[in-house]
Amino acid sequence: MIDCGPARRSWLFVPADSNKKMMKALASEADAVIFDLEDSVALSQKATARELLGLLPDRGESGPQRWVRINPIGTDAHRHDLELLEELDVDGVVLPKAECGDDVADLAAALAPRSLPIHAIVTETAKSLFGLLSYNDCCSSLAAMSWGAEDLSAALGASSKYEAGGELAFTYRMARSMCLAGAVAAEVQPVDGVFADFRDEPGLVAEARAAASEGFTGKLAIHPDQVGPINAAFTPSAEEVAHAQEVVAAFEAEPDAGVLSVHGKMVDRPHLIQARRVLARTR
Ligand code: COA
Ligand code: MG
Repeated sequence: MIDCGPARRSWLFVPADSNKKMMKALASEADAVIFDLEDSVALSQKATARELLGLLPDRGESGPQRWVRINPIGTDAHRHDLELLEELDVDGVVLPKAECGDDVADLAAALAPRSLPIHAIVTETAKSLFGLLSYNDCCSSLAAMSWGAEDLSAALGASSKYEAGGELAFTYRMARSMCLAGAVAAEVQPVDGVFADFRDEPGLVAEARAAASEGFTGKLAIHPDQVGPINAAFTPSAEEVAHAQEVVAAFEAEPDAGVLSVHGKMVDRPHLIQARRVLARTR
């Protein structure tokens, strides 16, 4: 995997045909901004959006990473987006509607000789669900994988994504879990999908915390107000960090031990791995 710094907690989407929103996103606390050329930009506005991207101010020392979501492979818009990327100073590329590892490898080849990191959105078509384990070893440019329910439900012809009780239906929960496991298997960052109701902060916090406890290390955002709660949910708490330090210290003190007791609780290898993960995520 290409090294592109610590896991980005918040990935804020912004339609690239709005200069005002792009400037606002760049001034936010997001770890990464995704300038969107795909679904949030109408076909008639795509050329304008590419022009606006070319006019963005140069990067300073700080500020969010800059990523661009291009249009799906096989479209005319995709080809125009690739031409734009030849001259654009960005940290990485987001590929929507990826169906398998070969799609990522094809994009990496099209971007060569530049080796830009790629974040693939991997659950947006019916076929994509059968490719979720193909990202393993597909290409060293793959840096992150995220999932989405909106496009998948449209592709499947669903009239609703929800069960009668209001919970996300099994198909989408399965896609989400497969994205998580597929990303971990490919040793790239697992990123949770969008929480669309951007006025519902308690709902966002609950969903982001649940995602963090399941193993996701970041989440997509669609509104600047979502950035703070997402960053908080994916930052290990002081207690988690202190506990992780104790676990690591206990194993360092007894390098030949397979299992130890920390504060009266058993810890073994999985706990050590988890503790190291927590420490890697502290900034
Ligand atoms: N990035 C940067 N700024 C944003 C923003 C975003 N994603 N979403 C909203 N803003 C700005 C608005 O322009 C507004 O700025 P202002 O106060 O200077 O006028 C401010 O934040 C408050 O916005 P608000 O009025 O709450 O929302 P809205 O009705 O203007 O916009 C959306 C709602 C959903 C259209 C907008 O949030 C959006 O475009 N989100 C991104 C959608 C996207 O990229 N989707 C693709 C991935 S699923
Ligand atoms: Mg979409």
